[in-house]
Amino acid sequence: MISPTMQDAINAQINAEMVSAYLYLAMSAYFEDQNLPGFARWMKAQFQEEMSHADKLYEYLQERGGRVLLQAIAAPPAEFDGPLGTFQATLEHERKVTGLILNLVKLARKENDTATEIFLQWFVTEQVEEEKNAEDIIQQLKMVSGAPGGLFMLNRQLGLRPLATSAAAEAD
Ligand code: FEO
Repeated sequence: MISPTMQDAINAQINAEMVSAYLYLAMSAYFEDQNLPGFARWMKAQFQEEMSHADKLYEYLQERGGRVLLQAIAAPPAEFDGPLGTFQATLEHERKVTGLILNLVKLARKENDTATEIFLQWFVTEQVEEEKNAEDIIQQLKMVSGAPGGLFMLNRQLGLRPLATSAAAEAD
């Protein structure tokens, strides 16, 4: 059975992943409004990925006999600062999430909860990937800055990111 301290921390992380999901969904809606459907699709896929992160934690907590307690999710911003500003905000957000995951690992060690520590390794690796994805797109956006054709190409490229559900794909 998982300790109450670890349970609370995992519940907080479920919330953090839901907050991330909501943020990326808001960014997706913003890009739709900016007539950048490829950017919007990339963010929609990111939203889905964050939901799957929350679900992974949810399932794990249940498996360990913990109690899932869902917390409030505040409204995300509606406006963002163009493609570059939005991806810079994404990177900043992911760095914050990485810090949360590393704190969870520290807590698992302190609690002598080896199972949770091992479970969290997946998230540690995932955060490396998340930060790299945002960094790569920031680099590409900087390269095409001032060239509208470049933004168009990047929009097309980001639009190739697959979505998890066929319902979402059908909406294309
Ligand atoms: Fe689930 Fe982007 O961290």
